[in-house]
Amino acid sequence: MTEIAATANRQPSTVNRQPSTVNCQPSTVNCQLGRSLIALGVTGGIGAYKAVEVCRGLQTRGHEVVAVMTRSAARFVGPVTFEAITRRPVITSQWKPGMNADIEHVAIADAIALLLVAPCTANVIGKFANGIADDFLSSLYLATKAPVLLAPAMNSNMLAHDAVQRNLQTLAARGVRFVDPGEGYLACGWIGKGRLAEPAAIVAAAELVLAPPDSVLRGRRVLVTAGPTYEDIDPVRYVGNRSSGRMGCALAAEARRRGAHVILIAGPTRVEPPAVDGLVRVRSAAEMHAAVMAEAPRADVVIMAAAVADYTPAEPSPRKIAKSEGPATLTLQRTRDILADLGRLPSRAASGVPILVGFAAETGDAAAKAREKRARKQVDLVVANDVSRAGAGFEVETNEVTIVGPDGDRTLPPQSKGQVAAAILDRIEPLVRERTAAPVRA
Ligand code: CTP
Repeated sequence: MTEIAATANRQPSTVNRQPSTVNCQPSTVNCQLGRSLIALGVTGGIGAYKAVEVCRGLQTRGHEVVAVMTRSAARFVGPVTFEAITRRPVITSQWKPGMNADIEHVAIADAIALLLVAPCTANVIGKFANGIADDFLSSLYLATKAPVLLAPAMNSNMLAHDAVQRNLQTLAARGVRFVDPGEGYLACGWIGKGRLAEPAAIVAAAELVLAPPDSVLRGRRVLVTAGPTYEDIDPVRYVGNRSSGRMGCALAAEARRRGAHVILIAGPTRVEPPAVDGLVRVRSAAEMHAAVMAEAPRADVVIMAAAVADYTPAEPSPRKIAKSEGPATLTLQRTRDILADLGRLPSRAASGVPILVGFAAETGDAAAKAREKRARKQVDLVVANDVSRAGAGFEVETNEVTIVGPDGDRTLPPQSKGQVAAAILDRIEPLVRERTAAPVRA
């Protein structure tokens, strides 16, 4: 649909709201792991069934989705389908019992990083263009400041109609983006323009809208480690720690959202890792050491968010140790310190690359210990948290950290790990700008 594309291109979006500042409302629309929360509006077109695939695609790319269906959409696809996939209640009506119509769309409007409507009918395009707010989706459109992306789908004559074209132009002039409909067999029996774009194209367009265009991390290689390591005592027992992997996964998701090429090296995390460019699963500190050292020379940034074991059994048994073998004394030996080894990389001494970020999980006076750790391990930033405080550290959704860097300490208020990830990457970006003036590596 060239008319749509041409108009949309002339008017780049004026929306400057960055998803990283999105304020997630835990009560209604809990957004985790730094993933972007997307409202997927589904309207009453035959292409509504494809929205299920769009939803899946967004999720596999690491986004959270809340589905908002119009009344007629629910005639094409059952809300239960979206509910099962998104694992969230699907919004089908403004007037559902128990829903506070006045505030619910405002809460979602504030929380989302993108409003995507696929398929978007002529009717909904008309409502959006003319400010009609007579259902949840049209109210959400008016209430949100998030970017809006529409995937129109309708009969080709309807699409070509002056009224629809004018509405599309109005929306494009307002900064609304479009995924052009394709040409092909239409449900009405015609062959022509108006068919909903393919789900993969819609997902790709959504990602493009979400990625902040000016991030210095775009195209840079960012290596993130996450989760605990397990140090085997014998084939059934191990020494581990309480790390869930949430913070590392949030960092990987946020770096990817900024356009970085992200390699995630994950221990046995309790959370599902986000979509990244390369996922390397490891178990022990030794495996993590090998994986990180192999990847690090190509990385622009290495973020060691993993809770790597400091000690490992000196002589792991190849067979299960029976209790009849008597009270066991476990002899432990030190693991190799990955971060310190990275700090000593000869190539880094010359270039300052990769930029190194470490974590310091402490109990009490975290910032002071982090300053000492930063100097000792020769890293650029140390993210310190006092794990003895409520709402910080292991197994919780939130974190309260101080980032210790070359220009001093910065203590952040308690916030979601996704928001902490964004703040850490905001602090990394100037270092990347300073040290990697050279073009993006191949
Ligand atoms: N780390 C690492 N390799 C290890 C242990 C830790 O790379 N074998 C990294 C962690 O990923 C983290 C940072 O080092 O980024 C801090 O971990 P911590 O265990 O607190 O550091 P230590 O220097 O061992 O501090 P302490 O002596 O206080 O335990």
